[in-house]
Amino acid sequence: MRMNLRFFLCPVIGLTLLAGCQTSKPAASSAMRGTLDLAETQAALLLREVPAAQASNPAPAGKPPLVSPRTVDAQGNLVLVASRDWTSGFWPGYLWLLAEATGHDKWQTPARQYMAFIEPEKTNGTTHDMGFKVYCSFGTGYRYTQDAAYKEVILTSARTLSTRFNPAVGAIRSWDHHQDVWGFPVIIDNMLNLELLFSATRLSGDSSFYKIAVQHANTTLKNHFRPDFSTYHVVDYNPGTGAVVTRTTHQGAAPESAWARGQAWALYGYTLMYRETRDPTYLAQAERVAAYLLGHPNLPADGVPYWDFNAPNIPNEPRDASAGALIASALYELSTYSPQAAIYRAQADKTLVSLAQDYTASAGTNRGFLLLHSTGSKPSNSEVDVPLNYADYYFMEALLRQRHLAAGRAVVDGGPVVNGGMRGK
Ligand code: GLY
Repeated sequence: MRMNLRFFLCPVIGLTLLAGCQTSKPAASSAMRGTLDLAETQAALLLREVPAAQASNPAPAGKPPLVSPRTVDAQGNLVLVASRDWTSGFWPGYLWLLAEATGHDKWQTPARQYMAFIEPEKTNGTTHDMGFKVYCSFGTGYRYTQDAAYKEVILTSARTLSTRFNPAVGAIRSWDHHQDVWGFPVIIDNMLNLELLFSATRLSGDSSFYKIAVQHANTTLKNHFRPDFSTYHVVDYNPGTGAVVTRTTHQGAAPESAWARGQAWALYGYTLMYRETRDPTYLAQAERVAAYLLGHPNLPADGVPYWDFNAPNIPNEPRDASAGALIASALYELSTYSPQAAIYRAQADKTLVSLAQDYTASAGTNRGFLLLHSTGSKPSNSEVDVPLNYADYYFMEALLRQRHLAAGRAVVDGGPVVNGGMRGK
């Protein structure tokens, strides 16, 4: 793996933080500044790459326009997606996070432009991915701007997502595809869509969104987890009775394996459930998932998992930087609720430094994405060892959370974009 020597990093930042070492803070600040400089260079490049790719490879006639950058293909071409793709919101969301992190308002203009392309998704009821698409973009934008137009998009999206809730199952249906295989599939990823529902209740006073989120989380807690608190990827239900039909995987190595990003969604999901409800059941679940992850013999020393904890050829398996970024971001938040704070924070720090040091692209490469080495779906041989827009999003979120923690600020809802951003602090 490439070593990026631009950064002067304290390699044992986690341990030094644990020990209260005074030298860790300047090292972390130095790493942050270098990473943010790179992130701005890369974002500027990606902003140039998108229109070039749209011009050279437009959507076929009759197909929706390609509006958001997702990854880079095997030929090195930028891959764009239509608004309906589950990842379409991460690029504008990332630009909002970059604006906060750098204090440079200039990133807000493209954030608004790219958000506009995905607004039609607010009435798309054919997928559960509303939270990924709309909350990571409009939700993030609303936190910074309080723009009433964004609030309307969030509320409409929450209403649309709620139509996928089945009271007999007590969950939101994930996929509509593979109806010959699954009657009512629910994937662990779906936990992330609950943030949108909580936000909608806060903004409207309508508790129905909150209740759906809680029911979905309770059903998932009951049926998705194994005794060791690893999670299945897919649980299929009988939509009439709510009975579990099968537990399996779609993107993991095997039905009984622990797909890395799925474990990360579980950690993040139950941490956000505790944030929103203060129900200790969810905190306990998040801590059990964290214990599973941090104690796993196949978690590499740098904190960035292989694509599946049970992948057959470890250590000769691709990593998933997106899972590493997600776990780091979730652990920062979880550290604020838990007596295990020092352990979680040290692990998150270590992972963040690893990602910044060993997984970032050189300036001007990677079509403008920041991180290398993520894995989308290894079983389908799709997006293996590539950049992914959501890896960059959660990495930038983790950077912000680390910085907010260091400054004694709230980790979540960091507040409006402030002049100066993270620089110089
Ligand atoms: N939500 C889809 C994935 O994590 O790949």
